Amino acid sequence: ILPKKTTIIEVGPRDGLQNEKNIVDTKNKLAFIQALQNAGVQEMELTSFVSPKWVPQMGDAKEIVEQTKKIGRQFVLSPNEKGAERALEAGAKSIAVFVGVSNSFNKQNINRTTDEAMDALQPVIAILKAEGIFVRACISTAFYCPYEGKIEKEDVIELCRRFVSMGVDELSVADTIGMANPVESYELFKLLKVTFPDVLIAAHFHDTRKMAIANIFAALQAGIDRFDSSAGGLGGCPFAKGATGNVATEDVVHMLNTLGIHTGIDVNKICEAVEIIEPHVSRPIETGMYRLYKTK
Ligand code: HMG
Ligand code: MG
Repeated sequence: ILPKKTTIIEVGPRDGLQNEKNIVDTKNKLAFIQALQNAGVQEMELTSFVSPKWVPQMGDAKEIVEQTKKIGRQFVLSPNEKGAERALEAGAKSIAVFVGVSNSFNKQNINRTTDEAMDALQPVIAILKAEGIFVRACISTAFYCPYEGKIEKEDVIELCRRFVSMGVDELSVADTIGMANPVESYELFKLLKVTFPDVLIAAHFHDTRKMAIANIFAALQAGIDRFDSSAGGLGGCPFAKGATGNVATEDVVHMLNTLGIHTGIDVNKICEAVEIIEPHVSRPIETGMYRLYKTK
């Protein structure tokens, strides 16, 4: 039995753009965000307070947060204490921290081992919770790691358990390099639902092998009703070898619409947002629903 209503967490302005080599003007990012809001998006990852040396594209995080109209829940990513401080200063109310299950991935992405990252985040999360901040924990490499291969479910559960004991409100569990299949998706998300009945759980699929839509359907069957997706299918982690875009918001919403599952999001208006950002990104946008929109 499938959920009747789902929430889409739009990650285009963050995951979508972080991997883009051309620096996109802040005003063009803001126009993209506004168009996504107009399409009905109620939850969105706006930007990241990461090191601008590591990810120059996210160097305008403060301006993005300050100049975005406050609608719904707006996340910013933060890897550490410094990022959390910068996010709070900019007025962020919802913060996403991120750690992968795999040590090798974490070394590449945040220059820390898993334990080092978790030990450093514990007091940061405690402060954020005391400040009334909504905290999302993004769990990378929950299925496969580009450096270590297959990841065991028990290791994912263990990392999630540590985050839950620190008081996070949500787990966003990611197939960073798009290698999972629908059985793996169903089994992990079912286990997560049973193990953590009191936290929100979102599924974050990259679409490297065009399996993301099938994996989302499997996660729906496991009872998941929150999905991260990116308008235009943009995205990818610059420090995960072989990562490509996220599953496209327009394609996910289209599938959910045809299943009679409510999202509150207008597919055509998502395509209008894609049209706004398309001239500013270097990769071709070839998602199913966007192609249809362009040929109309
Ligand atoms: P480091 O070099 O080890 O940092 O990088 P450090 O702590 O040694 O500090 C070095 C310098 O950076 C210092 O400045 C710090 O102040 C500064 P200096 O004294 O040299 O002038 N610094 C910062 N500046 C701004 N904001 C900060 C910050 N922290 C330190 N937050 C660090 C460690 C974590 C900072 C770096 O590795 C980093 O920024 N990594 C981010 C990588 C990233 O953005 N990855 C993509 C997001 S995760 C993702 O996409 C996966 C996800 O989508 C799920 C999935 O699909 O799997 C969420
Ligand atoms: Mg991602």
